[in-house]
Amino acid sequence: MKITGSIAEIRTIVQNARKEGKRIGFVPTMGYLHKGHLSLVEISKQHADFQVMSIFVNRIQFNDKKDFEDYPRDFERDFALAQSAGVHLMFTPDERDMYQNHLTYVEVESLSKYLCGATRPGHFRGVCTVVSKLFNIVLPDVSVFGRKDIQQALIIEKMVHDLNFPIQIITAPTIREEGGLAMSSRNKHLSHDERTRALSIHRGLLKAKSLIESGNRNTTEIKAVIQKEIEAAHPQKIDYIELVSYNSLHPIEKLDEKAILAVAAFFGNTRLIDNMLIHPCEGGFTCEL
Ligand code: PAJ
Repeated sequence: MKITGSIAEIRTIVQNARKEGKRIGFVPTMGYLHKGHLSLVEISKQHADFQVMSIFVNRIQFNDKKDFEDYPRDFERDFALAQSAGVHLMFTPDERDMYQNHLTYVEVESLSKYLCGATRPGHFRGVCTVVSKLFNIVLPDVSVFGRKDIQQALIIEKMVHDLNFPIQIITAPTIREEGGLAMSSRNKHLSHDERTRALSIHRGLLKAKSLIESGNRNTTEIKAVIQKEIEAAHPQKIDYIELVSYNSLHPIEKLDEKAILAVAAFFGNTRLIDNMLIHPCEGGFTCEL
């Protein structure tokens, strides 16, 4: 695996791979890799021959300075994991090269207002700006994003459509730890006790799934069952529990279309997110975690 922080070098290597007729797959990350990240590479391999990954802790998407500073980093471990997953080219840009004298930002309106956008102002603007830059540097044919961050994936899909990036966006299922906690680099910050209590998020989603699949359409009741489960585990704070339209991310009052049930909660100082897709099917809805 070739590792470089040079934008020019990335361009040359990718250009050469394309000249050899290879399709380019790209997985952008902020590092501290886990099986969730590596599963994206596995999916990328099904669609492309040459795998590029980036690791860049993108300061401008953090609305909390301490969260940025404390974000876990371990490049050596990441490089070993990426290499064994089959990454050919690892891009580790330098913050100065990315943002010196930077005045241009990309914002997807409306979709960025809800859920995480409501409690993390500027977050998706930072994400869209860095992903646009990475896309323009790497010029991939396909790029894979995790459904764990479903709002991010939908916003990127919309951005790619609206700005005519010639890139296929693929979303990949959430990889979970034993017990159901969605894998996240931030899980490292959880104490043993917090990690146990954080399992309430997954349990709450499973209870909501049973309720929905048994025919309940009442948003208030569906959200209440999750709230009860999480509150019993004494979170520091519940940021949101929302049932939103899949298309607009607008909160819905009665479940009657494809939807997302999304949760964000703090255990200790660690903010965790998770969600479930709700698909209409014959005679009702099925839920996918
Ligand atoms: P990061 O949190 O490192 O995540 C990188 C990619 O891995 C994202 O597409 C995310 O959705 C996916 N991912 C994270 N946890 C996952 C899990 N448990 N299962 C499956 N996929 C998972 O998301 C970012 O970085 C940044 O915002 C980024 C897009 C790189 C822009 O800076």
